[in-house]
Amino acid sequence: MKNKIIKNNKTFNSIGAFSNNHILYNDDCNNVMDEMISKNIKVDLIITDPPYDIKNTKTGGESYLNKSFQKSQDELTKFNLTKGFDYETILNKMVKLQDKINMYIWCNKSQIPFYLDYFVIKMGCNFDIIKWVKTNPMPTYHNKYMTDTEYCIYVRKGGYCNPENYQDGSTLFQAPINTKDKKLYKHPTIKPENIIDRLVRNSSKENETIFDPFMGSGTTGVSALKHNRKFIGVELLKEFYNISKNRIVNSNNLDYKSLDTKLVS
Ligand SMILES: C[S@@+](CC[C@H](N)C(=O)[O-])C[C@H]1O[C@@H](n2cnc3c(N)ncnc32)[C@H](O)[C@@H]1O
Repeated sequence: MKNKIIKNNKTFNSIGAFSNNHILYNDDCNNVMDEMISKNIKVDLIITDPPYDIKNTKTGGESYLNKSFQKSQDELTKFNLTKGFDYETILNKMVKLQDKINMYIWCNKSQIPFYLDYFVIKMGCNFDIIKWVKTNPMPTYHNKYMTDTEYCIYVRKGGYCNPENYQDGSTLFQAPINTKDKKLYKHPTIKPENIIDRLVRNSSKENETIFDPFMGSGTTGVSALKHNRKFIGVELLKEFYNISKNRIVNSNNLDYKSLDTKLVS
């Protein structure tokens, strides 16, 4: 049981707590959500970015551009980020964590029909589709449109969306691929922090709790803490868990000493 942590008779890989307000788990989010549901823990807002469903990761072609794009596609395969996830099981758990459905879920275009069917047709939620349109997409358009847009489905039933200005009210974000953050935090699908900032501002209030079951490099956590929200995050891979933990601590000047101690019993 090396590196395992037992809390309330349940075993987690590891837990980092910055204070009672912010908790990070290195584990399968299924496991953590079961624990939260059993304790009737509720969250006000979910912002998450689960693995996409990418049918073809081969770019084809021998040009320099194609080869460099292939490298980033291979990274997605390496970290198991192309095969989606167990949708019904995970979404059912996410829904149980909220009194009022209020969630943003990043996805690629082939996942949109499923999310709309689950949340809009079956659950009767309102929805918006927020778009991150990249201003510098890879120019791969042989026999197809370029992959220049990522989508974030916003679903709510009683949930809160209150943009305070014209820009925050827009569903369109135009920004380049965030190469700098990718290099800095070594996560192949890191989202731009300023996009997440807008979602946090629009759909939560100070001291409310934001949950990200697929935390990656911790972008949602950084934004949540910056806006004085509480944060619960889960990441399966130790490598990314450590990156997100360090990133969240450093970007918010938190006290390292409290890490991995407070909740451990
Ligand atoms: C698309 S990435 C999230 C990137 C994140 N939005 C960011 O800005 O860095 C999805 C993450 O979920 C993690 N993951 C996949 N399955 C998981 C699971 N069952 N439980 C927790 N994390 C999981 C992956 O390791 C990956 O880091």
